[in-house]
Amino acid sequence: MSGAARVDWRSRAAGPLRGELAVPGDKSVSHRALMLGALAEGRTRIRGFLEGEDTRATAAVLAQLGVRIEAPADGERIVHGVGLHGLRGAARPLDCGNAGTGMRLLAGLLAGQAFDSTLVGDGSLSRRPMRRVTEPLARMGARIDTRDGLPPLVVHGGRRLHGIRYELPVASAQVKSALLLAGLYAEGETEVVEPHPTRDYTERMLAAFGWPIEFSPGHAKLSGGHALRAMDVDVPADFSSAAFFLVAASLVPGSELCLRAVGLNPRRTGLLQALKLMGADIRVGNERSSGGEPVGDLVVRHAPLRGVELPEALVPDMIDEFPALFAAAAVAEGATVVRGAAELRVKESDRLASMAAGLRALGVPVDETPDGATIHGGALHGGRIDSHGDHRIAMSFAVAGLVASGAVEIGDCANVATSFPGFMELANGCGFDLAPLDRRA
Ligand code: S3P
Repeated sequence: MSGAARVDWRSRAAGPLRGELAVPGDKSVSHRALMLGALAEGRTRIRGFLEGEDTRATAAVLAQLGVRIEAPADGERIVHGVGLHGLRGAARPLDCGNAGTGMRLLAGLLAGQAFDSTLVGDGSLSRRPMRRVTEPLARMGARIDTRDGLPPLVVHGGRRLHGIRYELPVASAQVKSALLLAGLYAEGETEVVEPHPTRDYTERMLAAFGWPIEFSPGHAKLSGGHALRAMDVDVPADFSSAAFFLVAASLVPGSELCLRAVGLNPRRTGLLQALKLMGADIRVGNERSSGGEPVGDLVVRHAPLRGVELPEALVPDMIDEFPALFAAAAVAEGATVVRGAAELRVKESDRLASMAAGLRALGVPVDETPDGATIHGGALHGGRIDSHGDHRIAMSFAVAGLVASGAVEIGDCANVATSFPGFMELANGCGFDLAPLDRRA
């Protein structure tokens, strides 16, 4: 699926950035709305659905499992729920594409079914660790075969699951969510305790769909044997997509951008705090609740940034925003120190290595450590970098190109479509100078 044709980009100095932007819907919420809608009784209408390859892959998997999903308009889905026990086995492997969230959550959801399933993914997903979900699911009675801890996952059906209390060794919303989804099918209580609270969309959405669940930051508990009731889901704009524009406008002199109706779940907005510590000028206005989630408009103006020692406690709340933070740190005055972020090594690429290599290629000294890096901010020159097929690395270097003294060529950008279709058009619309790179030119 993703990355079929090689796409390279070139980003050049430009700006100031101006305008009002609506970034696409939240990826995490879109995945979960599809899954809970599929298992619910009745019709779930999703508005603001992310039309990304990751979330479309999840929709296609659910369709293979017998769920009718209509797409009446761009960004809209109607999921005809089949009820908790209404899925049917698929003849062929279920392709999650590039999506770790899709694969890990589906592993939990499928562990309690009567039929066998095989989950596969693209090259990057096939290198991502799966024992973090298969081990605790096995403790619940599931049987899932892996290729030495990696995909494909063969999820055996017809298993009797029982609830467990599980203390996550690493903060992960995907692992927590996989266990809670398996817990819907388990006898007794499934309880998850996290070392640091992570995004709680699964918990909030289960409650909204009428499933009894107790949860507080870092803790969730539910029991099996209830039902999900279909509902309408309004998906907020994805903070992780807004993040690139928050950094871009901070870096480019004279910029002012307004990002509309962005999801502000506190487990997602660590980058706001990090950028403010660095001296950014970002204001949150028009705060309100939409579909049970806090949203607001973000107004960001250019401000000179300074390097910081990033508080480790912020790491889980900005786990997807490190590529963007590294771009900010590259331009900030002084050093930015990141620690406690070893999880970045097992994302769509090894993000510590990908960002360090890319920034060095643009003349920014980076000292890499096993769980972080020190970025010595200063001036960027042009150069050629590799995104390693990682959407967020590609977009972060598109941002870096705005303030580099020469053109930044970014290799392997097709996967931007996994989370942010239309990024290039939106970016150019507010003042970027970003174009496909014609290698023949
Ligand atoms: C996600 C959880 C995070 C995040 C990912 C989406 C989710 O992964 O990085 O982009 O939707 O639950 P981990 O649980 O592996 O930290």
